[in-house]
Amino acid sequence: MVSKTGDKSKIKIRKARSADIDKICQIEAQQFTNPWKQDYFTNELDHHIAYFYIGEDTDSREILGYIIFWIIEDMLELHKIAVSADSTGKGIGKQLFGFMLDTARTNGVEELFLEVRKSNAGAIKLYEAFQFQLIDVRKAYYPDPIEDALIYKLVLNNTENIPS
Ligand SMILES: CC(C)(COP(=O)(O)OP(=O)(O)OC[C@H]1O[C@@H](n2cnc3c(N)ncnc32)[C@H](O)[C@@H]1OP(=O)(O)O)[C@@H](O)C(=O)NCCC(=O)NCCS
Repeated sequence: MVSKTGDKSKIKIRKARSADIDKICQIEAQQFTNPWKQDYFTNELDHHIAYFYIGEDTDSREILGYIIFWIIEDMLELHKIAVSADSTGKGIGKQLFGFMLDTARTNGVEELFLEVRKSNAGAIKLYEAFQFQLIDVRKAYYPDPIEDALIYKLVLNNTENIPS
């Protein structure tokens, strides 16, 4: 695990492809107690409303994180964001999140939604840093272990206060 020294990793963000799925599943297994199966990721590659991108090290090309979101007309839903356990705390999640917001603006999105486990303090801090607002709680929504989901929303109008 890389120490949280504040050093930043520069990544290249590109569309995911099928050759990436094995590595993505490794990161997924590190980071989630109920990881998505390989098929879920494969299906997202060709789904017409899905945006499935990876962040790779600019030198080694190693995949360090990934993000999946859907854009449905003027609404965006975040479905996945994860960073390799060795690379957390180095600004990669923030870069993937910033990419999502840029894509939202480019595509005329007005509202963004995401859900997160109540205990996931790191992710919640990231979302709140980008001005997402808590709008709802779904009781016992997640399995393994059972836990509430917090629903967050961001309205994209004049968002120059959002970090890039
Ligand atoms: C959540 C996650 C994607 C964040 O990615 P990351 O690369 O570690 O995050 P960054 O280094 O870009 O940090 C961005 C901000 O998030 C917050 N943050 C992220 N992880 C944190 C942690 N463990 N503790 C506290 N704050 C954290 C901080 O506010 C940080 O900003 P700062 O460095 O300016 O203080 C990553 O930790 C991860 O993969 N977690 C497991 C999977 C997961 O929970 N995904 C979200 C499911 S809803």
